[in-house]
Amino acid sequence: MTEQPLVVFDSGIGGLTVLHELRVLIQDRHVVYFADDAGFPYGGWEKEALAARIITLFSQLIADHDPVMIVIACNTASTLVLSQLRQAFPNVPIVGTVPAIKPAAERTRSGLVSVLATPGTVKRAYTRDLIESFAARCHVRLVGSEKLAQMAEDHTRGVDIEDQAILDEILPCFVEKDGRKTDIVVLACTHYPFLANEFRRLAPWPVDWLDPAEAIARRARSLIGETGSNSEPGYGSDVAYFTSGDPGFATRRLIGGFGLRLQTGNS
Ligand code: DGL
Repeated sequence: MTEQPLVVFDSGIGGLTVLHELRVLIQDRHVVYFADDAGFPYGGWEKEALAARIITLFSQLIADHDPVMIVIACNTASTLVLSQLRQAFPNVPIVGTVPAIKPAAERTRSGLVSVLATPGTVKRAYTRDLIESFAARCHVRLVGSEKLAQMAEDHTRGVDIEDQAILDEILPCFVEKDGRKTDIVVLACTHYPFLANEFRRLAPWPVDWLDPAEAIARRARSLIGETGSNSEPGYGSDVAYFTSGDPGFATRRLIGGFGLRLQTGNS
């Protein structure tokens, strides 16, 4: 086993949807999953305070684990602090997760694309820049949901979420304009793929729900490839830290299903 782990970072369980794809492509690194659940949800945080918090957490993570790479499996964090983190920690490769606006613009047939994200992500200059650079010819609707990340967390804990409550959050994504309809919705929060089946079932018409997890895993794989690795599989020795200390039974069971063992104490 190589000493340096791959660290996957999110505010909660959303990063597990990215971890799932990382595991397909990267089997020779053990994983430290780090969830800042004491700060969850990131979507409503004030920018400066959230940036400062994440930078502090990263400096601790890097000191504790000496990671081969950190994957920020969180759009809300990446669109805010990715470049600051790269500047602050130039020796650690950092892969971010940002709204998949470019592939959506390339794929749409109707030219109507929606981006479903947290309120933080839809407000970011980073997100607006992506639209200007890659989707200027599309009609892009930004939909900031205050509730969906929490609903996704609850859903994974077995809490029943009313269909209508989910529908209220996704309905603004569905736009009809000049006889055309939205055909792609970008899942720009890593929590949302946990609700993808519900989204598909409740959608007023079928759309492509674009989840960037696989593309992020490919990017991480290509960067790790350059650093070299050994062939011991890491699965089984992978661990998770939650800043709350303990996220509770249902989440412990969920992360167990992802091959992670909860570690308590310092990261
Ligand atoms: N999973 C995070 C993202 O991709 C956000 C969830 C939260 O609001 O903390 O944006």
